[in-house]
Amino acid sequence: MLVTLKQILNKANKENYAVGAFNINNMEVTQAIINAAVSQKSPVILQTSQGALEYAGRDYLKALAYTAAKQKVPVVLHLDHGRDLEIIKKCINAGWTGIMYDGSHLAFEENIKNTAKVVKWAHAKGIGVEGELGTIGGAEEKIIAREIIYTDPDAAVEFVKKTKVDALAIAIGTSHGAYKFEGSGRLDLHLLKTIKQRLNMPLVLHGASGVPAWLVTQAVRYGAQLGKPEGVPDDQIIHAVEYGINKVNTDTDIRLAFDAAVRKFVAEKPEDFDPRHILLPARELIQKVVEHRMQVFGSNGKA
Ligand code: G3H
Ligand code: 13P
Ligand code: ZN
Repeated sequence: MLVTLKQILNKANKENYAVGAFNINNMEVTQAIINAAVSQKSPVILQTSQGALEYAGRDYLKALAYTAAKQKVPVVLHLDHGRDLEIIKKCINAGWTGIMYDGSHLAFEENIKNTAKVVKWAHAKGIGVEGELGTIGGAEEKIIAREIIYTDPDAAVEFVKKTKVDALAIAIGTSHGAYKFEGSGRLDLHLLKTIKQRLNMPLVLHGASGVPAWLVTQAVRYGAQLGKPEGVPDDQIIHAVEYGINKVNTDTDIRLAFDAAVRKFVAEKPEDFDPRHILLPARELIQKVVEHRMQVFGSNGKA
């Protein structure tokens, strides 16, 4: 069933688990995620980046998410990293049930001003808003922010008070993409604990993909050139959830699973050119990856 970001995250905050927010760009990925949510009896957030809207079109993505939401588990259709106010307005009016306004690249006061504006529009329609404070490293919407600026707890309190956001994305050491750390990654869990104590509201972890070694091995075995990818280990995610993260974003792991499965199939069956045969193993592998993540987040059985 379709629910709002506020509903899904307030329950997670109260019961101390995290809901997975998975990026969708096409039908097979959407099906894999909703199949995982149903099999795990888990709430789920389907999120569309501005890039996804550009690629697939708003109407197609809405139809996919609304179709997925016919299942019995709670589903949010969320805008990920919204930066363009026109796109945000269109998503609010089109029936998205959660909006992220990402003003993390702006000066503090300007981030507050724009976020507060989006909150006003969204709340008028009963939709919740996620804001972002601090800079998560890696590539965000083609903008490269390599340096991580950790979220300052005092600034976070002021930001939430002035914007009235329903959830806050914080920077505690993660970055987007497949190359998050050199060596084994550690998050600043102490900072997370401090921010949670000060805010006691739903907090969001971006750039949280695990980049599992077995997935990388499969992709590389069938020709992917990936260098030395590094994700957030499961135990770090488990601690982050324990300390108050209630929404965990995942896109890179989905991309890796898609890539690994398609490469394997076309390498092993070079004579088969039926797209359904090529994409079926991708859908299955993504479902497996998403199911595992739901267990790590503790959202299984929470639908
Ligand atoms: O945070 C970024 C997500 O992985 C979405 O990526 O903007 O290429 O769709 P995208
Ligand atoms: P990953 O690149 O770690 O999957 O993060 C995705 C994300 O934060 C989307 O907003
Ligand atoms: Zn992100």
